[in-house]
Amino acid sequence: MIDVLEKTFSATPPTMFDALEPQPADALLALIGLHRADPRPDKIDVGVGVYRDAAGATPVFGAVKAAEALLVRDQPTKAYLGAEGDARFTELLSKIVLGPVLARSDRLTGVQTPGGTGALRLGAELLARAGMTGRVWIGAPTWPNHAPIFAAARLTVASHPYYDAANSHLDFDGMVEALRSAARGDVVLLHGCCHNPTGTGFSIEQWAVLAQLFAERGIVPFIDLAYQGLGDGLEQDAAGMRLMLDAVPQALIAYSCDKNFGLYRERVGALWVQAAATAIVSTIRDNLLVLARSLWSMPPDHGAAVVRLILEDPGLSDLWRAELDEMRTRIGQLRSALAAAHPRLGPIAGQRGLFAMLPIDRNAVDAMRERDGIYMAGSGRINIAGLKTDTIIPFVESLTPFLG
Ligand code: LMR
Repeated sequence: MIDVLEKTFSATPPTMFDALEPQPADALLALIGLHRADPRPDKIDVGVGVYRDAAGATPVFGAVKAAEALLVRDQPTKAYLGAEGDARFTELLSKIVLGPVLARSDRLTGVQTPGGTGALRLGAELLARAGMTGRVWIGAPTWPNHAPIFAAARLTVASHPYYDAANSHLDFDGMVEALRSAARGDVVLLHGCCHNPTGTGFSIEQWAVLAQLFAERGIVPFIDLAYQGLGDGLEQDAAGMRLMLDAVPQALIAYSCDKNFGLYRERVGALWVQAAATAIVSTIRDNLLVLARSLWSMPPDHGAAVVRLILEDPGLSDLWRAELDEMRTRIGQLRSALAAAHPRLGPIAGQRGLFAMLPIDRNAVDAMRERDGIYMAGSGRINIAGLKTDTIIPFVESLTPFLG
């Protein structure tokens, strides 16, 4: 037996895997390990996007703990649910995401997915299966996983301006100008709120301009809503997306409960697709289910069941909303403090969500990490919630020499 286990095979080319190229570790996720390995007690983690409280912890929501207790007590079975996941979860969540009117639309269909990434991938696969030949436009910069997700579904990705880094603000005119060259049937990926990585978003007037442009030119929005409630509030953060859905015939929405329910590792999300006519909705849904079946068969249940229980119970819903309000308030306070600490950081006060881009280059990012134990993404993106009232001053002191 030991002989069999220890047997090595001569690697006579060609072998099955010779064509594979070595791959770098995911730069954002690698930061978690780098920070963990740093023994300096005053190190600061503003890397990966998880919310942290004033003690630097990412605690499980009280509402989630309570729902989990109910689940342990009452869940009658763990038998399969099916490729659509927990239909009641999707139905209840649709009221939070889409609002009461759109949630009743018979042109919209939704399924549970493994996180927002699963929703993006499922939507991308649906577009590919529908024979999409146009481009998927993504802003520069965006979440580093966006382009690989669409490319993995064999779609063509194009980039449009989004952020004016020199002035730390949205380049709306540049974006609109670029999208005037989009073809009918092209897809544009939009962040619903709390843009990752810049924190800059559209005013409701800018959403209206985009909605009109998309409607006129037959552009299909694919809205990634991963931070609802962390910007200005649950309703406010969905307003632009809802306006867009009202204006255009077709749209996709990828949703994540990672941050606003603190369920990161449970992988809870949903995808909604809006069709131009009700007649095609059941065919779209059937295709989503076939695709999901081959991608992950069925989404994991636990986190979605927890969200369902919270949304079913008015007391737990109130608790969840209060916890979310507290997170948003803390992020807002940190934003104000950071913006007040240096004139170049002023725009951070007007941005929303977990992230902001520092106006510094890669050398500065590396220097701050090596010299002062400050961990941020290589792009200069920081997770605002990784700061504390008493780390803002040392953080800004470390940063100031690089701000020019
Ligand atoms: C982030 O951008 O930090 C988060 O969305 C985590 C991730 O999956 O990249």
